[in-house]
Amino acid sequence: MATDQRLRDFFPPPPGLVESAHINNRDVLARMADQNLEGFWEEQAKEFEWFRPWTRVLDDSNPPFYQWFVGATTNIVYNCLDRHVRSWRRNKLAIIWEGENGDQRTFSYHALNREVCMFANVLRSMGVHKGDRVTIYMGRIPELPVAMLACAKIGAVHSVVYGGFSVEALHGRIEDSQSQVVITCDGGYMNGKIVELKNIVDEALKRCATVEHVIVVRRTGQPVTMESGRDYWYHELMTLPVARTASGNSRCETEEMDAEDPLFLLYTSGTTGRPKAILHTHGGYMVGVATTLKWVFDLKEEDRYWCTADPGWITGHSYIVYGPLLLGTTSFMYEGAPTYPYPNRWWSMVEKYGINILYTAPTAIRGLMRYGEAWPNRHDLSSLRLLGTVGEPINPEAWRWYYEAIGKGRCPIMDTWWQTETGMFMITPLPETPLKPGSATKPFPGIEADVVDENGNSLPAGEEGYLVLKRPWPAMLRNIYNDPDRYVSQYWSKFPGVYFTGDSARKDEDGYYWIIGRVDDVIKVSGYRLGTAEIESALVSHPAVAEAAAIGLPHDIKGNAIHAYVILRAGFEPSESLIEELRAHVAHEMGPIARPEKITIVSQLPKTRSGKIMRRVLKARAQGLPEGDLSTLEE
Ligand code: WTA
Repeated sequence: MATDQRLRDFFPPPPGLVESAHINNRDVLARMADQNLEGFWEEQAKEFEWFRPWTRVLDDSNPPFYQWFVGATTNIVYNCLDRHVRSWRRNKLAIIWEGENGDQRTFSYHALNREVCMFANVLRSMGVHKGDRVTIYMGRIPELPVAMLACAKIGAVHSVVYGGFSVEALHGRIEDSQSQVVITCDGGYMNGKIVELKNIVDEALKRCATVEHVIVVRRTGQPVTMESGRDYWYHELMTLPVARTASGNSRCETEEMDAEDPLFLLYTSGTTGRPKAILHTHGGYMVGVATTLKWVFDLKEEDRYWCTADPGWITGHSYIVYGPLLLGTTSFMYEGAPTYPYPNRWWSMVEKYGINILYTAPTAIRGLMRYGEAWPNRHDLSSLRLLGTVGEPINPEAWRWYYEAIGKGRCPIMDTWWQTETGMFMITPLPETPLKPGSATKPFPGIEADVVDENGNSLPAGEEGYLVLKRPWPAMLRNIYNDPDRYVSQYWSKFPGVYFTGDSARKDEDGYYWIIGRVDDVIKVSGYRLGTAEIESALVSHPAVAEAAAIGLPHDIKGNAIHAYVILRAGFEPSESLIEELRAHVAHEMGPIARPEKITIVSQLPKTRSGKIMRRVLKARAQGLPEGDLSTLEE
């Protein structure tokens, strides 16, 4: 009886897919990796070009400061572009792009490489050197990957700030990274409106002094202020002699980087304080990202692949920019909102471009699902062969809709669990894996995960606990930029020697993992990762607010929505208009995604005796749940 029930819960892979997949022996690979982790990753690393080979695959002599491919040199861009333009792929499409207003642009590997080389020359001419940080704050246009690749090519470290963030979020990230150059656009199109990116940059720069140059891509054409001597138009710079070599051609030498040299910083929210910059490197990141993408989405030379994420988040870094280019893939990229001008926009583009692999987020699926099946049914979606999700647990109802209405029951769903910190997929199906809606299934070969209790002891099947990772992996974060102590305390101290993910999960009797959600002060809003601390600090930067606490509460479409509780300063009276003003203030400082769903004005917040706000208590009260252990609550 139990077995029957279990079998009904499995969705087996469609016939034919497994036979032709790159990988159809997961258990064998997992066992191999278990026995010889270094040998396993070394095999994958041989797929790439290195200027100098490694002397050791993994140096684990100083945990948690692990190093991969020690002694090797390479450049991820060399593997994304240089080697392809020397092959037949030079004329293959790298990027097909569609703007929200219907504009279309395409880049072959040759064209993309040329653009990247010229922009890299421009950056060099502005004095950007190996190791320098560059902040990129743009809409979803092809110049965004171009800017990232141009930085990496010359060894500069990019820090992409999501274009949906606003003044204070941007300012904090520019200042922490000490960027001298910011690359932006005049504006971006989103949902039929213009996001005034350049104006936000101007406002952010009033608050910080490190930036010497701003490069502006023209996208919307609306008027912007250009500060003489500081601000330059991208299209003008690209026609100058500095974009070319002395002999006038558009080439640019790719910098030879140590495998462990930094590739990028990506700010993300954590438990406390200001956002932290996760540091990733050239060598290990390259190997981890490309291997996982190839195996999980079974990317074939002829596939058209679309990851709907924004390049401003880790999903965009790993699986829009670096992963697909490393594999020589043709990717599709779309600028705007999924429902603009109608809820069939995505499905019309799947049909128009013949997309084979679609990778998106549960929140987007839930958002589109509520418009009904008639919208996808207007389109021929038969090109699709694999689907994917990331960012938060997918509820079985959305899973089934995605599977039936979009995949027509033919396309397995790769529910990939991973993080900014992990750089690559960690717990994920492979095409051969029988699926259970809502489960990310099993760890990728070479990844050792577990669910443990408060003391770090493994929990039996069915019990909820902390999700941890027990062995290093090549695309792992190497540090928090300029804050190694925080790196150690945040990730490696709760359970010494073991990586703590911040998530809770349980395993079932088949060894499948079910991710439950964050156990720290991170809120996932529409799959976007926000920290309570940053939202609260945006609130208290308003003159009316004395204290604030933010929590996430379940929301049908967004997964979680932000609810904030504020105590007003003396002299301010609670009113609807003040609440509206506070919501708008958070959106202005942090970005529209951080706008609280609801703000409640209170006279007290539950605190511990040492003065820490007990968000857990607020959350329980708001949901009418038991408040748990209150022994530390102040009277
Ligand atoms: C959550 C996104 C359930 C999780 C790549 C994790 C998921 C956080 C899944 C990282 C999934 C990501 N199922 N939860 N398939 N994927 N998460 O850094 O809570 O933006 O810790 O990276 O997203 O978010 P981040």
